[in-house]
Amino acid sequence: MDDRRRYDHATAELEPPFAILDLAAMRANAADLVRRAGGKPIRVASKSIRSRPVLERVLAMDGFRGVMAFTLPEALWLAGHGFTDILVAYPTADRHALAALAADAEAARQITVTVDSAAHLDFIEHAVQGAGPRAELRLCLDVDAGYVALGGRFRAGALRSPIRQPEDAADLAAEIAKRPGLRLVGLLAYEAQIAGVGDAPRGQAAYARAIRLMQARSARELIVRRGRVVNAVRQFAELEFVNGGGTGSVELTVREKAVTEVGAGSGLFHPRLFDFYRRFTGRPAALFALPVVRRPRPDVVTVLGGGYPASGSAGPSRLPQPYLPAGLRYAPDEGAGEVQTPLLGQAAQDLRMGDRVWFRHAKAGELCERFDALHLVEGDKVVETVPTYRGEGRTFL
Ligand SMILES: Cc1ncc(COP(=O)(O)O)c(C=O)c1O
Repeated sequence: MDDRRRYDHATAELEPPFAILDLAAMRANAADLVRRAGGKPIRVASKSIRSRPVLERVLAMDGFRGVMAFTLPEALWLAGHGFTDILVAYPTADRHALAALAADAEAARQITVTVDSAAHLDFIEHAVQGAGPRAELRLCLDVDAGYVALGGRFRAGALRSPIRQPEDAADLAAEIAKRPGLRLVGLLAYEAQIAGVGDAPRGQAAYARAIRLMQARSARELIVRRGRVVNAVRQFAELEFVNGGGTGSVELTVREKAVTEVGAGSGLFHPRLFDFYRRFTGRPAALFALPVVRRPRPDVVTVLGGGYPASGSAGPSRLPQPYLPAGLRYAPDEGAGEVQTPLLGQAAQDLRMGDRVWFRHAKAGELCERFDALHLVEGDKVVETVPTYRGEGRTFL
């Protein structure tokens, strides 16, 4: 049975819109990530999953260890549900959540918060002041892993941490060591320009060559600098982990001796933006179905909803991909609509009222902000329906 027939069959009793997760596809994607990680553990990026039961399934698989969470309230919630070893990989300015963390010795043992400046340390200390007996807080130092060339005139990578050189990292590590109640346990350096930028963009040969050159140079530079940063920081702290990478860079990141683990999540769902890499291929695992509701012209069908663009620099690449049946495309003036989405193309002619069109999101976990549940598909059956974060009433961003 082809995938479209299989998904239609599995979900015949459901009314779209709804979202599914193809478990066999996710398992295959997980196995490939683990193979690429070459024995180093993968910390699962919860932003790319956003469903507690799915996170549990991932962590039950060999090769995955720990959670990379995106907010402290999320981490506290996960810890309250028994998750352990949770790194909040983005700084927090949530005073209440910091106070709650300091007041909860068990959560404070499981959660690590990320800092990149003395201002963060001051903020944390201020937030937890006067909270009565307080637990020691575990900190992770975020280091800029971007690529800089031409004397600083060219930069690729996410603008995250101001800490870039070993001396700066050592200074902050020394500052943390001086402050009672704070303990530096980890280091994080995310090379977005390799992990999150496809090196095989379609139909753009010159751009692809430029990306590959930039990524090769960046990887070479990082091997040296990340190693030096880690050595410098180790003079002031016993690091439990050094995290780097993401779905697009796993096999490159783990080559570095200084790196003890990789962070990754998107590769499990394999959304559209991850189709453009030479290093790996994945199977689309998370899909959503929208119903055909009208036919404005013989060659056009309109589906309900669909306007679920992904975050990032806006453009067509952020739109969901009409996936099955193959050969559908957006009307250029309308794109993916707020309430309805016209779809053009040969395949539209064979669709009838109530038929499903299956879409892939451009990114992974953001899909779960649109749907309460994921229907888990095994073969041609839905075997379980699990809530997303949204389905549990949790919107952390
Ligand atoms: C700190 C960090 N690590 C890793 C990743 C990669 O995550 P994924 O593999 O889910 O794309 C990201 C993504 O933005 C990130 O911010």
